[in-house]
Amino acid sequence: MLELRAYRSDDLDALYSICLETGDAGRDATALHNDPKLVGHIYSAPYGVLEPHNVFIAEDDLGVAGYIVGTHDTKRFAESLEAEWWPDLRLFYADSEDMTEADKARIATINAPSNAPSDLTIAYPAHIHMNLLPRLRGQRVGTNLLKMWVDQARKAGVRGIHLGANVTNEGGIAFWSKSGFNELRREPSVVWFGMAL
Ligand SMILES: CC(C)(COP(=O)(O)OP(=O)(O)OC[C@H]1O[C@@H](n2cnc3c(N)ncnc32)[C@H](O)[C@@H]1OP(=O)(O)O)[C@@H](O)C(=O)NCCC(=O)NCCS
Repeated sequence: MLELRAYRSDDLDALYSICLETGDAGRDATALHNDPKLVGHIYSAPYGVLEPHNVFIAEDDLGVAGYIVGTHDTKRFAESLEAEWWPDLRLFYADSEDMTEADKARIATINAPSNAPSDLTIAYPAHIHMNLLPRLRGQRVGTNLLKMWVDQARKAGVRGIHLGANVTNEGGIAFWSKSGFNELRREPSVVWFGMAL
C-alpha cells in the first residue's frame, strides 16, 4: 500500500536517511560520508523544519521511502537559512575531525551556500528537491508527488519553479525533462531546469 501525504515532524529522520541514500547524484552516498546527516542538513531537513507545509511524503508498508521538498520563494528561504539554520551547523562543524572529502565538501557548502543564478530565481522563484528510495522508483510516485507540489504552488500564485540536477544524474535529468521542466542552462556540474506555472 502506498500513501502520499503531508509532512509530519516525526518524518524528519526519514528526510535525513533518504537524502543520504540518494545523495550521490541519485545514488547511495552512505559510503562517502562519515557523518550521515551532512547531506540532509543541506538538501532535505531544513525544508521539513522551516517550511513543513511545502513537503510531501511517500510512505509504503515498509515506511517512509520518498519525499518532495521545496520553497515557494528561494530568496526568502535563503534568508531564513542564514537566520535560523546555518549558524548552529557552522558552529557544530567548526572543529570537525575524521571527515571524508565528501564530508568536507558538504561542510564547505554549509559555510558558503551556493545559490542558483539570480536570473533563474527571479523568473522561477520556487525550487524543489525530490528523492525516492529505489523501491519506489519507476511507478509514477515521482510524477504524483510533483503534481501535489505543483498544484499547491499554483494555488499559492507561484510564477515558476527551478531546480538543479547533477550532470551525472541521467535518471533525474530524464525525469525532469519528461515532467514539464525545460533545460535552462548547463554548467560544468549542474543542469538547471525551470517550469513556468
Ligand atoms: C528521479 C525520480 C524522482 C523520478 O521519480 P519516479 O517515480 O521514479 O519517476 P516516474 O515513474 O514518475 O517517471 C516519470 C517519467 O520519467 C521517466 N523516468 C523516471 N526515471 C527515469 C530514469 N531513471 N531514466 C529514464 N527515464 C526516467 C519515466 O520513464 C517516465 O516517463 P514517461 O512519462 O514517458 O513514462 C526518482 O527516480 C528518484 O528519486 N531518483 C533518485 C533521486 C534523484 O535522482 N532525484 C532527482 C535529483 S535531481
